[in-house]
Amino acid sequence: MNKQVLVAALPQGAVGPEHFRVAESPAPKPGEGEVLVRNEWLSLDPYMRGRMSTAKSYVKGVDVGDVMVGQTGGEVVESNDASLKPGDKVLTSLGWQLMGVAKASDVHKVDASRVPASYYLGILGMPGLTAWFGLHEIGQPKQGDTLVVSAASGAVGSVVGQLGKIAGCRVVGIAGGKAKCDYVRDELGFDAVVDYKAGNFEDDLRAAVPKGVDIYFDNVGGPILDSLLGRMRLFSRIIVCGLISEYDSKEPYGYKKIRSILVNRIKMQGMIVFDWQARYGEGIKGLAGHLAAGRLKYKESVIEGLENAPKGLMGLLKGENFGKQLVKL
Ligand SMILES: NC(=O)c1ccc[n+]([C@@H]2O[C@H](COP(=O)([O-])OP(=O)(O)OC[C@H]3O[C@@H](n4cnc5c(N)ncnc54)[C@H](OP(=O)(O)O)[C@@H]3O)[C@@H](O)[C@H]2O)c1
Repeated sequence: MNKQVLVAALPQGAVGPEHFRVAESPAPKPGEGEVLVRNEWLSLDPYMRGRMSTAKSYVKGVDVGDVMVGQTGGEVVESNDASLKPGDKVLTSLGWQLMGVAKASDVHKVDASRVPASYYLGILGMPGLTAWFGLHEIGQPKQGDTLVVSAASGAVGSVVGQLGKIAGCRVVGIAGGKAKCDYVRDELGFDAVVDYKAGNFEDDLRAAVPKGVDIYFDNVGGPILDSLLGRMRLFSRIIVCGLISEYDSKEPYGYKKIRSILVNRIKMQGMIVFDWQARYGEGIKGLAGHLAAGRLKYKESVIEGLENAPKGLMGLLKGENFGKQLVKL
């Protein structure tokens, strides 16, 4: 039998257990050109909150009754296509379920001999590629630039900051709480870190970036983005990657410092990682090279069991994860 987590209702505010239900169904059978995959890892990502919404976005949202969407890593157990065989480790988008059938052409085979297969959902997958292309293509980091990144201990932010160090930037992270801040500074090697939950954000930020900011990689939006707008230098860059502080809000945040974009000629650009799909190979090669050379550190936050995935997503959206959030199935 297969086990699935279905969407039971679309949330109006915060995601809760009432928005999901667990269902069982017979194991699916692959047709011609298809494979049956047993999922081993499910990636939990902030974008999932956006998919549980009727608001217009860059991808269509889920409907009530759908298997909840998500990227998965697993093993081929039955193949009706010559390109894949049982035992192959693969990356799929089968969503929140223990197994599923996919077209062989939609499945990406991964090399799990040198890094754990789960890394292809994190540092060598969508979050790592977001950091790679967002920072390099939009941020255009130069030696001596001051780079600030929010959600700095997370899947995207931790890679952005470390890539910034490799590019010769002075890197300042923003994270919530002492444990995450200590990790970002002491383990990841950022030059400074600001704890936005410590209650003195404006002053702490000013002290951390006395000469202003050349690149702000924004993962959170809201009041943190507004504060950063006030600290940007002439001809600086802002990468709008995520707005996690706003995902549950009914009303958009009211930004007050937009004038800074004009006065400082800031280039502020939204990004969606799919836009670089044709160049993913280049990004993975670059990230894998830094990882193998010991220049990138990476942390996973793992919960066990498909039925705990809703709890994992709720925690991720509240910052309870510490590193890339995964579910071990
Ligand atoms: N544009 C793209 O293509 C793309 C691709 C991937 C991800 N993203 C975006 O990038 C961001 C980070 O994603 P991720 O996968 O790396 O997740 P993550 O950083 O591993 O986890 C999310 C983190 O967001 C922080 N957070 C939650 N609520 C917050 C709030 N109200 N204010 C400030 N920080 C808050 C928490 O860290 P603290 O405990 O430190 O607050 C939490 O750990 C998200 O906004 C996501 O939507 C965009």
